[in-house]
Amino acid sequence: MLTEEQKKKMELEDKKITENIHHIKHRIVVFSGKGGVGKTTVSVNLAYGLHINGYKTGILDADVTGPNVPKMIGVSDELHIEDNRIIPQEVNGVKVISMANMLPPDQAVIWRGPMRSKLLNQFLGDVEWGNLDYLIADLPPGTGDEILTMTQKMEPEMAIVVTTPQEVSLIDSARAIDMAKKMNIPHITLIENMSGLICPECGHRIDLFGSGGGQKQAEKMDVDFLGEIPINIQARQLADEGKPVILENAKSDISIALMGIVKKIDDLVRKENESVVV
Ligand SMILES: Nc1ncnc2c1ncn2[C@@H]1O[C@H](COP(=O)(O)OP(=O)(O)OP(=O)(O)O)[C@@H](O)[C@H]1O
Ligand SMILES: [Mg+2]
Repeated sequence: MLTEEQKKKMELEDKKITENIHHIKHRIVVFSGKGGVGKTTVSVNLAYGLHINGYKTGILDADVTGPNVPKMIGVSDELHIEDNRIIPQEVNGVKVISMANMLPPDQAVIWRGPMRSKLLNQFLGDVEWGNLDYLIADLPPGTGDEILTMTQKMEPEMAIVVTTPQEVSLIDSARAIDMAKKMNIPHITLIENMSGLICPECGHRIDLFGSGGGQKQAEKMDVDFLGEIPINIQARQLADEGKPVILENAKSDISIALMGIVKKIDDLVRKENESVVV
């Protein structure tokens, strides 16, 4: 049972979050049932894709124990605090917040669920996001505490579930979609990442992990399919150097696929808002 004082504190925290996030027009969570399928890659590149299209965008790294966003965009500075507000870093025009900027690189975060949720509450309530068009939250794999906190407190308009084409990943993506449905997220969408590899030497397509399962899964579970993203060796190399491929090589197959997805997201969000007005 919570004491009156604890209840009051929680109410104040929720109020702060509500006020802060209502300056952000569209809030999106990116998650998956399985780890390593490309959530961070997708989050980072979609954020820059939206920025390229003229939107004010932020990335919230909600993976407290495995925060990879700063590594993928090449930032290692510590966070600034001003008047009890956390100032997000701005990297190539996109605002970013991550646990990684609060820790030395090789230090583990061994926190139980409630502590991780507390930090995420701070990322939502105490970060000076300002007025944003889009905030993308990169979530850890699975269906644990962080996903619950983010979907309850961030009130996302859209969930992007990332899967790879293999059966094991597709099965886990069904759990993630089911969770998004149970959390009543208005738009639930699916992306198939690592869908085929075009050989850079001969142009031949190799379906390393298979392909097409994502589209079928989306149809089966009645969610919007946003598209397939190919495996791209340069994208992986650039990510390791802290450079999002969408900024570095706009003409590559992966950047073209990602920009197609950016357009679909924008169309879906706009359609939704128009139907609200009507
Ligand atoms: N389409 C792709 N082509 C090439 N490499 C990719 C692609 N998608 C992701 N990768 C690489 O695969 C690795 C895992 O990707 P990423 O870290 O984005 O996955 P994740 O789902 O966020 O993982 P975690 O569950 O650990 O958070 C990274 O090295 C990334 O650069
Ligand atoms: Mg990740």
